[in-house]
Amino acid sequence: MNRGAVAEVNLTAIAHNFKILRDIVGKRPVIAVVKADAYGHGAIEVSKRLIQEGVSCLAVAFTDEAIQLRNAGINAPIIVLFDTKDLEDFFNFNLIPVIHDVSIALAISRKATEKRKKINVHVKVDTGMGRIGLSGNKIIDNLICISEMEGLEITGIMSHFSEADLLDRSFAYSQLKEFNRIREELFKKLKKRIFSHIANSAAVLTFGESHLDAVRPGLMLYGYSSLSKDSELNLIPAMKVKTVILCIRNLPSGFPISYGRTFITKRQSIIGVIPVGYADGYNRLFSNNAEVLVKGVRVPVVGRVCMDLTMIDLTDIKDVKEGEEVVLLGQQGNETITAYELANKAGTIPYEILTSFGRYSKKEYVN
Ligand SMILES: Cc1ncc(COP(=O)(O)O)c(C=O)c1O
Repeated sequence: MNRGAVAEVNLTAIAHNFKILRDIVGKRPVIAVVKADAYGHGAIEVSKRLIQEGVSCLAVAFTDEAIQLRNAGINAPIIVLFDTKDLEDFFNFNLIPVIHDVSIALAISRKATEKRKKINVHVKVDTGMGRIGLSGNKIIDNLICISEMEGLEITGIMSHFSEADLLDRSFAYSQLKEFNRIREELFKKLKKRIFSHIANSAAVLTFGESHLDAVRPGLMLYGYSSLSKDSELNLIPAMKVKTVILCIRNLPSGFPISYGRTFITKRQSIIGVIPVGYADGYNRLFSNNAEVLVKGVRVPVVGRVCMDLTMIDLTDIKDVKEGEEVVLLGQQGNETITAYELANKAGTIPYEILTSFGRYSKKEYVN
């Protein structure tokens, strides 16, 4: 669908970010998280490029996302993090389910036996995220029970940090300690080591001990991190979002702009209308509260962001014409609007800014 915004995705930036990751984690396998359409950047193109750069495995949230990648000719192993609705998909498309309780393991085992097939699975343990995963004092018994089920092979165990991005690492340490305890117990019982992964981007960047057998980053591949001091990391944001001015209005002083008349011109004004609104992922909290770039200059959003349109104040910029490029995210001239800046204004995180913009914008890829 073509709406008003274009998301320009720089695949070279993604390759660059992957190299930074490689320098940190060495030869360890990288499970690239490309769920939610690669955080809005386009899962097919991003996955193809990452595989070319050396990524050995992909992770998505739902089987539909994995099937989309398979249909695009991607043969790399794909871990499906959060979906076990349709078990047939795992067999038909050679996908790796993440098992987070015994009953799901049983259902997959039954399906495998019925099909006379063997399936590789990863098992998730909850070490303190409080989301999904085996937990409680039966974790080891449950893991052993799953390992003995017919048709299943546990080829990975995983967990997820809840706050690896904080300067205070005490909770992340306790999660890692618990994960390592589970791994050791399992080793004693099974007499073999199970491939283990827990590190998201924040842990990749700051928590070397958690890198284990593989790392599982998402955000840093797209050029951001959830750390406070990441200007030193040299990651390059891969997404730029732009549009063009739909119309320019010359309005007198005292003229109300947009729903609710929350902005009234204080002078004779030149107001630009851009064809991007909250339906395009441009948060309504940017109403009277964000800037965009025009001719390399920051100009304010005025009035409320509408569903499909937003107004910007062009009064201080010379010679702007309808059709002129407007950058909502990314660089134009010497100015840059980052996902951090927008996230701060909307009280959210860069992840939400990227996935929101990515969802409806037309994508253009730059190599
Ligand atoms: C299970 C799991 N692993 C890894 C990641 C990647 O995290 P990040 O994007 O912070 O690197 C996510 C992201 O939400 C996740 O849910």
